[in-house]
Order: sequence, then structure tokens, then C-alpha cells
Amino acid sequence: MIIEPRMRGFICLTAHPKGCEANVINQIQYTQPKGQIKGPKNVLVIGASTGFGLASRIVSAFGAGASTIGVFFEKAPAEGKTASPGWYNSAAFQKEAKKAGLYAKSINGDAFSDDIKNKTIDLIKKDLGKIDLVIYSLASPVRTNPKTGVTHRSVLKPIGQNYTNKTVDFHTGVVSSISINPSTEEDIENTVAVMGGEDWQMWIDALLNAGVLADNALTLAYSYIGPALTEPVYRKGTIGRAKDHLEETAFKITDTLKKLNGKAYVSVNKALVTQASSAIPVIPLYISLLYKTMKEKGIHEGCIEQIDRLFRERLYTGQEVPTDEKGRIRIDDWEMRADVQDKVAELWEQATSETLPAIGDLQGYKSDFLKLFGFNFSNVNYLEDVNENLQIEELQ
Ligand code: NAD
Ligand code: NA
Repeated sequence: MIIEPRMRGFICLTAHPKGCEANVINQIQYTQPKGQIKGPKNVLVIGASTGFGLASRIVSAFGAGASTIGVFFEKAPAEGKTASPGWYNSAAFQKEAKKAGLYAKSINGDAFSDDIKNKTIDLIKKDLGKIDLVIYSLASPVRTNPKTGVTHRSVLKPIGQNYTNKTVDFHTGVVSSISINPSTEEDIENTVAVMGGEDWQMWIDALLNAGVLADNALTLAYSYIGPALTEPVYRKGTIGRAKDHLEETAFKITDTLKKLNGKAYVSVNKALVTQASSAIPVIPLYISLLYKTMKEKGIHEGCIEQIDRLFRERLYTGQEVPTDEKGRIRIDDWEMRADVQDKVAELWEQATSETLPAIGDLQGYKSDFLKLFGFNFSNVNYLEDVNENLQIEELQ
């Protein structure tokens, strides 16, 4: 069928298989020519189909030559309906990996469940033996705890007080004021249950108990800090509590991995347009001003640039991994540079519906958003009839 973007609120209901393929190929072509990373051989990526997780899988495979198992939760194509973008991304990844002679298999299902953990462990035992890098890159609004059966929903709210600030509807470019009510204690607990470190720990416990982690195994999860501007709704809000928990979990997991001499790291990444970040109020306005500023300074990065730098300049340099005073790897260093933040803060004051097209990168935001769903790639013919019923090879 001929596939066009169909927007509803902050999501796009359709995805384009050819555009998703272009997205994956572009990322491969970024990391591959930089030469082989002396890195991991067998990598498990949990949340491997979009955003930072997909980039992590691509750098592992096409940057380091690793065998990869990817776990994700994506919608298959159905009668008259396209699949979700992560489905097509994974179909393209599998195809390219096969062409390159790289082992790659994928598992589609709820990573929070015991069932998917067991399935993953069985596959590792059967095909790879042991894993030396586990990347945990889930972003989800909901998690059912397999031990209690309770379903938790995360919320994006400030803690303790109302938060009012500017926000933009990036589809229309209208800048308005938004007021968000403070969370309840229950909201905080639920958000920590979904986006904190409990499930990461469960994965590592399960993998360790099954004997499928190699000596010196590393595991990595992704966090965000951001500027004072977004603090009330991000780092000091409910999601920030979850990130605090995730970061504390890294130390616990390092303890868990002691007998293997393994280690857990959290990497603090840059703010980027992904399905997850588009849903957070205020953040899209911040991102559009940040993109403008970083592009002008020639230091803008997308997911693949970030993760490629994480591997080549932080994790696999042959030297000790550089971290901040809280033990975190920082690849948000360029975002957080004083000259960048001062400029964004200045632009923030000026941002209105009228000024934003000139002072912000709304076009870049929109373009990146469409690209998440496989639209807006210049080398794809969107008038062409394409097979939306694409299947993922080596899907377990
Ligand atoms: P994303 O939405 O692009 O990716 C989420 C991934 O999780 C997808 O592969 C999806 O299939 C998978 N997933 C979701 N629920 C699942 C489930 N129940 N079972 C299996 N898989 C599931 O998100 P992202 O922006 O790449 O976020 C990944 C991590 O990076 C998050 O921890 C996020 O907080 C962090 N991060 C994001 C940003 C940003 O600006 N986007 C910045 C810094 C850190
Ligand atoms: Na991801």
C-alpha cells in the first residue's frame, strides 16, 4: 500500500518500512566506516528496536562486529495496518546483519515478564553461550511486575508543587503555557516501578543465575539530567525519581556482578527526539532550542552519534571508563556545556509562537519526529506502493 503519516496527538499511527530501513542503513553507514571497535563480542540489547537501544544494537553489530540479540515490544503489521516503526527497524536491521554475516536474532514481547527473560536465556544458551554486554534501554509507560502481578503506570509530574512553564505543540508551532499538578506519593512509586532499576536488576539476576554472563561482563542503562529549566518536570519530578533509582541500581548490580568482575554503568545521554521524549511536556520546546543552538555550534548529535561516541570514547578505549562524581558516564557533556545552556536559557525567554520559527529548530524537530516513523527521508519514494506486511527474519 501507499503509506502516509497519520498523526494523532503526539504519536503517528503509521510507519513506513522503506523509511525505517533508510534510518537503519544511515546509522550503519555512520558507525561502520569509523573502523572496528575492540569491544564486546556478544551483546544483549533490551529495548533494541528504536531510539538509543537501536543505535546501541547497530554500534555493537556494525561498529564492534558483535553478535546481537535484541528484545523489544513492537506491533506486527495487521490487515490494512502498518507495523510500528520498531518492527520495521528490526526487519531492516536483521536483513542488514544477515548480509554482513553477523549473528542477529530478535525477540518480540514484554521484557518485564519472566517469560521473555526465560526465552532470552534459552536463546543465549543455545546460540551464544555467554553475553559480555547487556544494554538496558527500555522506555515504557507501563509495567506489570511479574512477582506481584501489579500493573504500574508512570506519570510525568512535578513533585510537591505545581509547575508552570512554556511548552510547544510541535505539530502547529503554537507556544503556550502549561500547568502541571503535583504528583501523589503513589504516582512516584508507580513511576519508579516502571522506569526505575527494579527490572534491570531482575534481568541481571536472571542472566547471572542462568550462567549466561561472561567474566568482566558490562551492563549499561540510560539516564537523563537536563537543565534547571526542565528540572521540576524531569529530574526533580516523578521520572527523575525513577532515574535516581536506576542510577542507584547500577551500584547494586555492580555488587551482584562482583564474582564475575563485572560492572554496571549508567550513561547520561543527550535530549533527543524519540517517541518517549515527545510525550513529555516542555521538553519538545527545550529540544527545539537546544537543536538550534547545538547545530549552530556544530556539535549536534543524534542517537547514533551519541552511542558511537559512548563506545569509542568512553567504554572501549582500553583505559578506565571516565565517570562523573556519581559514577555516571556523561555523553550529555556537549548539551550541558555552559555556552550551550546559557544560549538556550536566553532563547527560552524569547520563545513565542511568533519567534520560535526563527530562534528554534522546529523544522528539525518535526523532521526528526517524522523520521522516527520512517517518513521524510529524501531517498525514499513515498508515492510508491510498498509491502507493509514485512516480516522480521530470525524473530524468535
Ligand atoms: P524509545 O521509545 O525510542 O525506545 C524504547 C524501546 O523499549 C523500544 O525498543 C521498545 O520496543 C522497547 N520497549 C518498551 N516497552 C517494552 C516492553 N514492555 N518490553 C520490551 N520492550 C519494550 O526510547 P528512548 O528515548 O531510546 O529511551 C531509551 C532510554 O534512554 C530510556 O531509559 C530513556 O529515559 C533514556 N534517555 C532518553 C533520552 C531522550 O531524550 N530520548 C535522553 C536520555 C536518556
Ligand atoms: Na531504545
